[in-house]
Amino acid sequence: MEELLQGSEPNQSSGISPAGKFLIYATGGLAVGVSIICIPFTVLPALRKVCLPFVPATTVQLERVAQVLAGRSGRLIDIGSGDGRIVFTAAKLGFKADGVELNPWLVYYSRIAAWLNPQYRESRFFRRDLWKFDLKPYNNIVIFGVEEMMQDFEKKVLNEANNDTVVVACRFPLPNMIPVETVGSGVDTIWKYEIKK
Ligand SMILES: *[C@@H]1O[C@H](CO)[C@@H](O)[C@H](O)[C@H]1NC(C)=O
Repeated sequence: MEELLQGSEPNQSSGISPAGKFLIYATGGLAVGVSIICIPFTVLPALRKVCLPFVPATTVQLERVAQVLAGRSGRLIDIGSGDGRIVFTAAKLGFKADGVELNPWLVYYSRIAAWLNPQYRESRFFRRDLWKFDLKPYNNIVIFGVEEMMQDFEKKVLNEANNDTVVVACRFPLPNMIPVETVGSGVDTIWKYEIKK
């Protein structure tokens, strides 16, 4: 917690631009403060480093994720859960929703937010490399990805997910699978896939 507050406190030596400082003040610091940190991301098997930037989900994206998840239930994992917004939206819809995120600040932030709201208290946030995270327990998977990771991610999903798992991708689609539903366009596009085994 102490670390968290220090990290988000704007100060003269932080090297954050005036615009960045303005955003930190305007939003109360936490979510935008951590967005400046970009943690390299190890992608197997090539061991390329991918920066998975934290871009908060927009209201439109949240609504569309909720829309394509209509009629679904059970467990949900959000890959790269950021500030936890997708996980909390899913929890409100009745899912047992968890998040996995590499950025420790975002994990602490999400855990605190979950702890503060009884509706979200069952949600768990794992600080874990997604490539080492087991997707099997989850019959709903949400990913807001970057293009470079989608090929490897599709392979991982096909290896690990059980029959009747739904994958919801935003920003970038899975490269080979055919979506059962596509909603929206541009950066707000949501693709829904069904794993049948
Ligand atoms: C996979 O799930 C679907 C939908 O629940 C079901 O109809 C189908 O029989 C399942 N397939 C197998 C192989 O279990």
